Amino acid sequence: MKTAIITGASAGMGREFARHALRIFPEIECFWLIARREGKLRELASELNGRKTVCMALDLCDEQSFTVLEEKLRDEKPEIVLLVNNAGCGYLGNVGELPTAQQTRMTKLNVTALTAVTSLCVPYMARGGHIVNVSSIASFCPNPRMTVYSSTKAYVSSFSRGIREELREKGITATAVCPGPMDTEFIALGGIKGHSRMFDLLPYCDPSSVAEGTLLSAKAGRAFYTPKAFYKLYRFIAKITPQALMVKFAWT
Ligand SMILES: NC(=O)c1ccc[n+]([C@@H]2O[C@H](COP(=O)([O-])OP(=O)(O)OC[C@H]3O[C@@H](n4cnc5c(N)ncnc54)[C@H](OP(=O)(O)O)[C@@H]3O)[C@@H](O)[C@H]2O)c1
Repeated sequence: MKTAIITGASAGMGREFARHALRIFPEIECFWLIARREGKLRELASELNGRKTVCMALDLCDEQSFTVLEEKLRDEKPEIVLLVNNAGCGYLGNVGELPTAQQTRMTKLNVTALTAVTSLCVPYMARGGHIVNVSSIASFCPNPRMTVYSSTKAYVSSFSRGIREELREKGITATAVCPGPMDTEFIALGGIKGHSRMFDLLPYCDPSSVAEGTLLSAKAGRAFYTPKAFYKLYRFIAKITPQALMVKFAWT
């Protein structure tokens, strides 16, 4: 069965990915929705117009969840046409000051889980399949006060670029999206709201438009999608400026 797997589907941009995927990838027959809050996944599932849905209440910071997903894939043998690695978290705070558990949650969810989910899903993807990896503008340059978060997103962009090459012969594309700030639960959960001058100053992206633009970019086979001209310019500046200089201006 042609299947889409979306992590972090219970809120924010993950929910928007599912809603837009209905129209942009009409061939999808079944959605596997992954996050910890099963109630929120069921609410989303009820919106997905008659498509089959599988709600998987998994904590992707717990490696046991990879075994659950692996077994489900082995039992169901879906044909994955779209994988969206969207689940992520980001906490504001210096290394050595923020609780270690929060710093490592970012590496577990944004790096380890994204790697494990992709690795488990690729064998079930056929020619024409698409992988979307949610990165961030934070991947362009280390952001002091969010050093761990920006480092995890640099990994996501690099990983996405690498697997794109690995999977080229199989006809599977990988697209990384690099949004600026979005007004989702992420901002409150990360202790960012009202505590970061940078986040207060930057223009916000709309999660629904970002999800739509990302899926269209994935369908077109693009490697990266950066919403908003402002952030495209930032990406260009970050590329041509030495990081030793960029990092001085990139405090969050
Ligand atoms: N918002 C921003 O400013 C911003 C900017 C650039 C990039 N991003 C990236 O965009 C992506 C989506 O974020 P968002 O803004 O939509 O944030 P969000 O509203 O906080 O959504 C995060 C999603 O991840 C899920 N999640 C969190 N921890 C999880 C865990 N341990 N196991 C499984 N699922 C988990 C959450 O569901 P449960 O709580 O139900 O588990 C939720 O569905 C993230 O990768 C984030 O880094 C966000």
